[in-house]
Amino acid sequence: MARVSGSSYLFHSLLLISSLIVASQTLVSSRALTRLSIEKGLSWNYYFLQCPKLERIVRKHLEDVFENDSGQAPGLLRLFFHDCFADGCDASILLGDGDNDEKKHPANIGLREEAIQTIEDLRILIYKQCLPVVSCSDIIVLAAREAVRQLGGPDFDVPLGRKDKKTWNASAPDNLPAPFFRTGDLLEAFGARNFDASEVVALSGAHTYGRTHCSSLVNRTTEAEPPIDPSFNNTLIATCPTPNTDTTLNLDLRTPMKFDNMYYINLLNRQGVFTSDQDLASNDQTKEIVNQFASDQNEFFDTFSDAFVKVSQIDVITDRLRQGQGEIRDKCFFPNNKSKSSSVAERVAELVAEI
Ligand code: HEM
Repeated sequence: MARVSGSSYLFHSLLLISSLIVASQTLVSSRALTRLSIEKGLSWNYYFLQCPKLERIVRKHLEDVFENDSGQAPGLLRLFFHDCFADGCDASILLGDGDNDEKKHPANIGLREEAIQTIEDLRILIYKQCLPVVSCSDIIVLAAREAVRQLGGPDFDVPLGRKDKKTWNASAPDNLPAPFFRTGDLLEAFGARNFDASEVVALSGAHTYGRTHCSSLVNRTTEAEPPIDPSFNNTLIATCPTPNTDTTLNLDLRTPMKFDNMYYINLLNRQGVFTSDQDLASNDQTKEIVNQFASDQNEFFDTFSDAFVKVSQIDVITDRLRQGQGEIRDKCFFPNNKSKSSSVAERVAELVAEI
């Protein structure tokens, strides 16, 4: 029997791996593949060989988590937005001791600690099955996608392959939009990151579930514009007589724990909680889009999914972008020991990804 030479063996192995990767691409929805561009180093099937069960592990664990505490779903979606929009999807929001870090910034008021802990719990579960090959930033993105899907929202693919940042920047959340923004400010803040009006209206639709603290209701009950339904105004004042009142209020008064298009129906009824929400229904550049999403949930879901994928790629660190600035964290709350070189598992993961 002919002996297979080392190089021939390597060649056939690589051929097999490439075929598997190509085959796996066909599992990703053609819509995502054809319509959306992705950053260098990210791919739709990044962990196909290193951690094939990744998405199932995340999905299953979050089914259990949301069954006990559905509020973690909006908590995880907000965590994702605040990690990405502040200064890139790099899990820097998880770093620091709570004194002078991104979590402590006023824009991050109300981030749910349980949701933050869930990301680390997922990392531990994933580590047990796949070794340390999956980044905390990818886990945040996958968890947020599940937080949308499992509460009734759209199901969609997300590109993976982000690395985690080694440092944090306590003032990065300055970039986050504020609830007292009028639509002009909002479009400017998102425009700086290349998002257009319909993407801004769709992303704001994340306020279709979850809660707010009274301190975030700045000026909504005292200013004439944008308009407010009088009885809704009374509800806001009764629940939050002062900004310091220690209670929370649902963001969507109709279906508070469902990811649907009721948010837009609320806006048409002048029952948006934040100024930044309600003003979308009055502004010339956005009011028609609000009407469209209120009457067509599928259109909202499609625009939201694509915009989510776009947010998930803001300033990412990958094998091919900003090399050396990222790592796969051993624990989501701490950068790796600086003196430690890449683990073998990490190197193998990078090589496979490069192939
Ligand atoms: C458009 C500009 C936005 C502003 C001004 C804004 C502001 C806020 C504020 C002030 C809260 C309440 C925080 C609290 O007091 O607990 C909140 C909650 C929330 N935001 Fe936004 N946000 C915006 C966009 C987004 C986007 C793009 C997403 C996700 C894609 C998002 C997801 C959420 C979720 C899910 C909650 C509820 C969190 C929970 O229940 O724990 N927001 N947002």
